Amino acid sequence: MLEQLEILRKEFDTDLSAAIDKNAILNVKSQYIGKTGKMNDILGKMKDASIEVKKSVGAKSNEIKNEMSIKIDEKLAKIEADEINENLAKNWVDITLTESIKDLGLTAAGYHPVSIVQREIEDIFISMGFEILDGPHIEDEYHNFEALNIPATHPARDMQDTFWFSDMKHLLRTHTSTIQVRGMETRKPPFKFVGPGKVFRCEATDASHEIAFHQLEGMLVGENVSVANLIYFMKTLLSEIFKKDVEVRLRPGFFPFVEPGFELDIRCLNCGGKGCSVCKQSGWLELLPCGMVHPNVLKYGGIDTEKYNGFAFGLGLDRLVMMRYKIDDIRHIHSGDLRFAKQFAEF
Ligand code: FA5
Repeated sequence: MLEQLEILRKEFDTDLSAAIDKNAILNVKSQYIGKTGKMNDILGKMKDASIEVKKSVGAKSNEIKNEMSIKIDEKLAKIEADEINENLAKNWVDITLTESIKDLGLTAAGYHPVSIVQREIEDIFISMGFEILDGPHIEDEYHNFEALNIPATHPARDMQDTFWFSDMKHLLRTHTSTIQVRGMETRKPPFKFVGPGKVFRCEATDASHEIAFHQLEGMLVGENVSVANLIYFMKTLLSEIFKKDVEVRLRPGFFPFVEPGFELDIRCLNCGGKGCSVCKQSGWLELLPCGMVHPNVLKYGGIDTEKYNGFAFGLGLDRLVMMRYKIDDIRHIHSGDLRFAKQFAEF
């Protein structure tokens, strides 16, 4: 029987080297080590053999079976690797060469204008020592409202503005101020961070209002922070973004989470201040509400209000993009229209 096994081993080697594709190899596998294969045929004849024979034949057959199985796996792996290499060689495209992409009739991808501006702003804040934070789109009442000093009766909680989930406990965040709350939960002052992201509001759309848009939240908490610090940061941000001095105005603004609160408006760059649909004929666009963080909000965040204070702001990113690229309707930004997006693809 040992001899028969040796013969089988040689036959297997010959058959395997003759098998040139996956199917042929799998065929050899089932012929030799499959359930009804030749190895089991031989072992089936051992029924009446002595214990010594059974032991030695059993050990040998295991050794040969293992060897066959390894050789089959190696050959299959080689064929798969050859296939991959052949495909790569045939279908190789250098995606870094934009000219060759165009030759192939393909369009190179580009960043969305919101991403372009968001990245620039992130770089500006990183250079000023800010961290970049993220937060979930689906939020709870606590992070979207309560911890931001927005009482249950505040109009911002109105069903009109908020997309609620059917459990009436979860919602799509209506602003990135939720990132303030989450940022305070996980760090100790002094700290400073910005948090960009998508926000959602259940409201009618027009040239400057969308239901899903982007904001960029900012928060700085430390000792003796003043309104002058806040204004300095806002001005630095805007002059870096527009690469020129832009006309801004600061007016009082009410947000339950800041005190005092301000509205920072920018002279509409779409019409140069003459009045258009973007600025609703006023010549000014509401862009950057901000203020000194309300002590209640700091307390919710576990911050000692005797020692620390801070400022926060919530930049309307899409509106900034509109000003930067002179886009006359916010709805173009998220239309998914390639004719729009292609204008920003940078080759
Ligand atoms: C807020 O959302 C506050 N959380 C901002 C804030 C943060 C204030 C920190 C103070 C301190 P407001 O609802 O005004 O505020 O929205 C902020 C900015 O988002 C607006 O100035 C505007 O630029 C933009 N925005 C608001 N609603 C829309 C909309 N429907 N479509 C596009 N942009 C919008």
